[in-house]
Amino acid sequence: MKMEALPSVKGDYNLGDYENTYKHFDWSEVEKEFTWSKTGKVNLAYEAIDRHAESFRKNKVALYYKDENRAEKYTFKELKEWSNKAANVIKEYGNIEKGDRVFIFMPRSPELYFAVLGAIKTGAIVGPLFEAFMEGAVRDRLTDSGAKVLITTQALISRVPVDELPDLKHIFLVGENIEETETQYDFMKKVAEADKNCSIEWVDRNDGAILHYTSGSTGNPKGVLHVHNAMIQHYQTAKWVLDLQEEDVYWCTADPGWVTGTSYGIFGPWLTGTSNVVVGGRFKPEFWYKTIEDYGVTVWYSAPTAFRMLMGAGDEAVKQYDLRSLRHVLSVGEPLNPEVVRWGMKVFNRRIHDTWWMTETGAQLICNYPSMLIKPGSMGKPIPGVEAAIIDDQGNVLPPNRMGNLAIKKGWPAMMHTIWNNEQKYESYFMPGDWYVSGDSAYMDEEGYFWFQGRVDDVIMTSGERVGPFEVESKLVEHPAIAEAGVIGKPDPVRGEIIKAFIALRDGYEPTQELIEEIRTFVKQGLAAHAAPREIEFREKLPKTRSGKIMRRVLKAWELNLPTGDLSSMED
Ligand code: WT7
Repeated sequence: MKMEALPSVKGDYNLGDYENTYKHFDWSEVEKEFTWSKTGKVNLAYEAIDRHAESFRKNKVALYYKDENRAEKYTFKELKEWSNKAANVIKEYGNIEKGDRVFIFMPRSPELYFAVLGAIKTGAIVGPLFEAFMEGAVRDRLTDSGAKVLITTQALISRVPVDELPDLKHIFLVGENIEETETQYDFMKKVAEADKNCSIEWVDRNDGAILHYTSGSTGNPKGVLHVHNAMIQHYQTAKWVLDLQEEDVYWCTADPGWVTGTSYGIFGPWLTGTSNVVVGGRFKPEFWYKTIEDYGVTVWYSAPTAFRMLMGAGDEAVKQYDLRSLRHVLSVGEPLNPEVVRWGMKVFNRRIHDTWWMTETGAQLICNYPSMLIKPGSMGKPIPGVEAAIIDDQGNVLPPNRMGNLAIKKGWPAMMHTIWNNEQKYESYFMPGDWYVSGDSAYMDEEGYFWFQGRVDDVIMTSGERVGPFEVESKLVEHPAIAEAGVIGKPDPVRGEIIKAFIALRDGYEPTQELIEEIRTFVKQGLAAHAAPREIEFREKLPKTRSGKIMRRVLKAWELNLPTGDLSSMED
């Protein structure tokens, strides 16, 4: 279905003629935007903040922060100083050397942004952890990464099993009345005392900057490493896709614990010198609309789940607020339903622009640009400098309108550098012909638009968060009542998918409502609230292969009343 072109964006598009740019564009052009193209000194945080603090943007607001209790703003010059101070503290008390892992586990707050930028200035690799993680999830990530320093809050430290983390040497706490010890410090007290000048650690463009843990269908969460060089693409996509212009006020609703919250909640906007809004606290429709009104947000990047929840809150709420500042609205993370696009047209008078990418890709790859004709339901077209294709399982490129693996030709600047401690896993993403295979299935139409069809693997996308069934299953079988567990994503109108667990109980346990609640709490407390199964169904036995693997495909077929397909590998 074709819809007429936009009333969605007004003003000058940073990406004008897509076809022409696509033909002639070369990534090496973008490097000229950065100071390091002249000085040879690379550091992502310098380019994102200091470069502007030393320009006409010095007194421009870089960060607007607000939650239920706080409303603050920081200019580029102030953010430079705060992050310098943070860098000095992390370096001195954390004894940090280039490449050491500094993990940051705290809710969104200005301190979180000082810490991330400061740690990057020290040359450390930053691992941001979503605040909802519980002890098991925190332990896995800190252990795998060998984190040396942790910056967290007094409220969250109880979820860090410090005694089980031999590599962890220094802890900084944010909060009130912090007791300092040899290895534990009051972060903001130290920051307040620190020098506002710092000597930035210059790095190689391919040195690590950010380590994001993400889930696959098998194994533990894996550490996806992104390097300073990714800034090239963060910058360019912030121009082309977010369409950021000098006067824009931009708001990305994602938490920095996920890649959207770093690539487009920190780097994209600040590399382009844009005023960036950060909202702390939980999702509340009224508070969100008020944020747009209060700050006059012009460009807004969120997720289908959030839009669907706003939709669910009703259109009356929208009418209370002045949202006319919005000029460009974007979405990522899951399929953007045409219904949501239609709702966006109605309430914002703007078309929501879908973008497709992944933790591993580091930045946007397939997008709907402000300057192009949008087909609702399509993820759009590859950005200039990116070659996308649909390939079969042998790596052959398929013609238009054939469903297959969505693949990208290796070599875009923000691509992950490796999987931490797991080179083999990294290699497994690629197929002959230098194709990165995404794990998504899709097709491309004759006009070069890509259409998402689903995941090839069993990864679950629930409320825009990626959950590996294996992690949930592993947690479940730790429960004394559970013999076996199989976990699938079940389609849900609001959350995209919900987590459903099929469970076989050990002898002597009865399937009661009480037990269901207990199991849910067990996963919530052991892993994370968003990883707890919303639905639990008990079965005598679960379908398994002869080698003992749970056949999630069969569970899914049961759930959806579909044919179970080839069962030749199933045990009796
Ligand atoms: C998976 C990656 C980096 C963005 C946040 C999610 C799904 C992402 C879309 C879209 C349909 C999408 C894919 C992808 N996904 N964007 N526009 N339409 N599906 O990052 O947690 O690494 O998950 O999210 O399945 O593989 P992530």
